[in-house]
Amino acid sequence: MLNGKRIVLIISGGIAAYKALDLIRRLKERGARVIPVMTRGAQQFITPLAVGSLSAEKVYTELFDREAEQDVGHIRLARDNDLILIAPATADLMAKMAHGIADDLATAVLLATDKPVLVAPAMNPKMWANPATARNVETLTQDGKVFIGPERGEMAESGEAGLGRMSEPLEIVAAAEALFSRETVSDPAAKADLPLYGKHIVITSGPTHEPIDPVRYIANRSSGKQGHAIAAAAARAGAKVTLISGPVTVPDPAGVTVVKVETARQMLEAVQAALPADVAIMAAAVADWRAATDFDQKIKKDGSGKVPALSLTENPDILATIGHHATLRPGLLIGFAAETQNLIANAQSKLARKKADWIVANDVSPEGGVMGGDNNTVRIVSAKGVEDWPQMGKDDVAARLVARIADFLNA
Ligand code: C5P
Repeated sequence: MLNGKRIVLIISGGIAAYKALDLIRRLKERGARVIPVMTRGAQQFITPLAVGSLSAEKVYTELFDREAEQDVGHIRLARDNDLILIAPATADLMAKMAHGIADDLATAVLLATDKPVLVAPAMNPKMWANPATARNVETLTQDGKVFIGPERGEMAESGEAGLGRMSEPLEIVAAAEALFSRETVSDPAAKADLPLYGKHIVITSGPTHEPIDPVRYIANRSSGKQGHAIAAAAARAGAKVTLISGPVTVPDPAGVTVVKVETARQMLEAVQAALPADVAIMAAAVADWRAATDFDQKIKKDGSGKVPALSLTENPDILATIGHHATLRPGLLIGFAAETQNLIANAQSKLARKKADWIVANDVSPEGGVMGGDNNTVRIVSAKGVEDWPQMGKDDVAARLVARIADFLNA
């Protein structure tokens, strides 16, 4: 997939820049040509000499470099490639890109390009969580940039844990491959293999965590395996996928834009920001309730034996909100129903109440091992009736669901 591709690799200034060296190696192993562009910041962390040696290419660093401008020029650098990959992408670089600022070579190339851009962010968790960064990510996503990561983990420099660690080189390579499997199809025969080509699909997955106080939260046993498998299958079928995920340990699927959230309210906001779409699939096990009171401090056990009362308030229903929305509702809206009893009756009532088109109903009684497990037995409930599917792996359920969606959209 990457063989013979020209990839402009923009390295910006963060400690994760050291991983760019391994990334160059991995891309080259797969037959890609890697043309490096380094920002000033990147050169504080790794040297152009190391980058040039590994890539066996000239390393571009300056916008106003007469020799480089005579050689290729930033416009040609922006155009003569199959992909621009930014790894690591700092908060600053993303902010500039979102606002069309072009004050160095990397940002000028990004402003001048009409090629696909894959972004692998890396930053301190607080910087990633900052609303300014979130706004920039949203803008860039709407502009068609594709994100891989960041991941949850410990930061190299501060030891702080949270979302912000750059994805591993091999995950970035997989994301680039998935992007090419979508971008390179121009002839209709090839598109037949990608039945969701040109479609945008929004998927929710995983549980939500609802804080009780700064250290405790309400959660559920959802692993995100089924929702993530659907996102991966939809991306393989050529769709542009936005996956809005609660806290999970399963890896980000390749070639998918992943938006990570914690609470139901954040998930609703992210879904609304990701729409419009051709299809929305709400596979997340959203907490129905959250704590009614915000506690800034940890609730203490005072030794008196008195037990605190936890009062709850209802969370917004994301599926129902979108189902009843006059403009945001996609043409095909799919919900899930995880039940321990009266599976079909409950699914049918959800179909009507939440105004979904299909409900994927599954029995999550503990003896079935569906929650957190690898298999699933589902029934598809729609206005047309109930379709029983045999027990399958979650990946197979995902593939079959994606095929059914493609049939529906292409009918
Ligand atoms: O009512 P119940 O939680 O069983 O409904 C399941 C369906 O509704 C799933 O598709 C789930 O993602 C969605 N849901 C939601 N927001 C909620 C609760 C459920 O989108 N607050």
